[in-house]
Amino acid sequence: MIQTCIITPKHRSEIKKHESACVWFTGLSGSGKSTLASAAECELNKMGVHTFLLDGDAVRKGLNQDLGFSKQDRAENIRRIGEVTKLFTDAGIIVIAAFISPFAKDREFARSLHDKNKFIEVYVDCSLEDCEERDIKGLYKKARAGEIPEFTGISSPYEVPNKPELCIKNGNSSSLYENINSIINYLEIRGIVPEPVININAGPEKSFNFKMEN
Ligand code: ADX
Repeated sequence: MIQTCIITPKHRSEIKKHESACVWFTGLSGSGKSTLASAAECELNKMGVHTFLLDGDAVRKGLNQDLGFSKQDRAENIRRIGEVTKLFTDAGIIVIAAFISPFAKDREFARSLHDKNKFIEVYVDCSLEDCEERDIKGLYKKARAGEIPEFTGISSPYEVPNKPELCIKNGNSSSLYENINSIINYLEIRGIVPEPVININAGPEKSFNFKMEN
């Protein structure tokens, strides 16, 4: 006979054998959020962890294609994404969000949707000078020329997080290997993922296989 029952997030996490969480990357455009987020997702996937990646450029092409970059639109962008991340954590998944999310109030809203130990804010700390030097999408050049209004870091503010769970220094001389290691280690220490991932003896080339993008 079929029974009815109420399935909770805990039931779903038990099947997956790891906790769910929202790992929220914030930082300037070009700071390396997307690269770190997708490399972290690769490592977690190798560990058998069920993840999903939400990224600014992709989400703005679909769910949030009606939004621009005014303060109000950015707030709505982060509000919707925050709600989506909550759905994913309820589903038992580690959701990785990579958004500039420049305003502390909007990030706090996203945090408020989650259980206290399930929201991990990762500040990707890269100076404006380094981001501008990289300028992978050529947006800083356009922003300086006045072609893109309200560009974060140039004509719109970025509020540095006060107490992020993790601060990742990601300047031009930073090591992607070390930075990913810090993120994965943090998830292990917090008991979100079960096992050590990185076999130090294997060396970075064995453990990591990243493609550098944004
Ligand atoms: S957020 O501020 O609302 O969190 P989000 O992360 O979704 O931004 O999108 C940022 C991406 O949009 C940037 O990486 C960049 O490619 C693009 N973009 C276009 N216009 C702007 C702008 N005015 N400010 C910042 N990013 C912009």
